[in-house]
Amino acid sequence: MKALCVVSKHTYSIARDIPYPSIESPDEIIIKTRAVGLNPIDWKSVDYNFCMPSFPWIGGRELVGVVAQVGTNVKGFKVADRVWASTYYRDRRAGTFQEYVVCPQHTVLMMPSCLSFEEGASLGVAALTAAMTLWKWLDVPMPDRDVASQIPPEYILIWGGSAITGQFAIQLAVQSNLCVIAVTSAKTKALAERLGARHVIVRDGKSNDDIVAEVIAIVGDDLTLAIDLVGDQTGASCVKALSTSKSAILAPVAFLKTDEKIPSNVRVVDVEMKKFVVEKGNQKYGEMLNKLISAGRVVIPEIQVLDGGLEKIEEGLAMHKRGDLGGRKLVVTM
Ligand SMILES: NC(=O)c1ccc[n+]([C@@H]2O[C@H](COP(=O)([O-])OP(=O)(O)OC[C@H]3O[C@@H](n4cnc5c(N)ncnc54)[C@H](OP(=O)(O)O)[C@@H]3O)[C@@H](O)[C@H]2O)c1
Repeated sequence: MKALCVVSKHTYSIARDIPYPSIESPDEIIIKTRAVGLNPIDWKSVDYNFCMPSFPWIGGRELVGVVAQVGTNVKGFKVADRVWASTYYRDRRAGTFQEYVVCPQHTVLMMPSCLSFEEGASLGVAALTAAMTLWKWLDVPMPDRDVASQIPPEYILIWGGSAITGQFAIQLAVQSNLCVIAVTSAKTKALAERLGARHVIVRDGKSNDDIVAEVIAIVGDDLTLAIDLVGDQTGASCVKALSTSKSAILAPVAFLKTDEKIPSNVRVVDVEMKKFVVEKGNQKYGEMLNKLISAGRVVIPEIQVLDGGLEKIEEGLAMHKRGDLGGRKLVVTM
């Protein structure tokens, strides 16, 4: 079968002689790939040479496809089911940039029937990261629990509201009865508003301190939750915005310097999506996503499809790295 391999530092090549994978544990499922989503980690790991234990390596962290084979212990999945999955880098068989991918059953979910393969390819990284960040790491109640509507509402700051993860985070936060303040560019302000952000702060031409001042003008000392999806400087600015509240939690999904000074009222949580694979018991976050999507309560970002299979991925990753996608999710179909 075919795979897009990283054959040496910074170098891709299409291999056509990869053996069809074998099931090594009775809990595993082999999925025939139909579409893959592209994510920042895919090009960052190749540019900065991490998360690739040896060469040749096969990248890619999310896929949708059709079940091709199930291990003897697998329950609830059968051949031909449409599924989505989130993977991580320790197992070359789980890299999604190949024709058949092996995943443990606790990392696989059925596709909501309302979604095309292309749409489902945004679930395994961005949607799941937003879900786990909110409901696991920030400890926000899931929408189907008995959540009393909060008066006054609890605020959450989402810095990077038009990032694909941000688009899901806004919607899931709203579903969990939070009041969202999002930071975006002028270009994507309307998108964040459509997704349910109560306040959208446009960042163009402003310093991060100006933006923090606008956040404080809206919420005063009552900001208790923040998600940063941009980088170390905006992560530090989230800390500032949280610093006057009684008690607050920050999820630096993108990056926060290890020596960043954190005031005692702010707790910083680690967002590590490998936990979805290495810990069992996180499937419930994917199931809740499926439920909200099937009920029409969460919509999928606009998808930009690159049709052309594995050969298109390198071009797609270069587009992703250039950025400026205006909130569109890049998906390669196979
Ligand atoms: N820790 C983990 O396990 C984990 C998991 C998933 C993702 N991540 C990280 O989370 C980050 C977001 O990922 P993603 O896939 O959602 O990103 P993405 O969709 O590629 O986000 C890009 C968007 O960020 C916005 N942006 C750029 N600079 C900004 C700024 N200063 N303020 C506000 N928005 C800004 C831009 O939109 P506008 O120009 O329209 O504002 C841009 O369209 C990445 O760094 C990724 O590596 C980490």
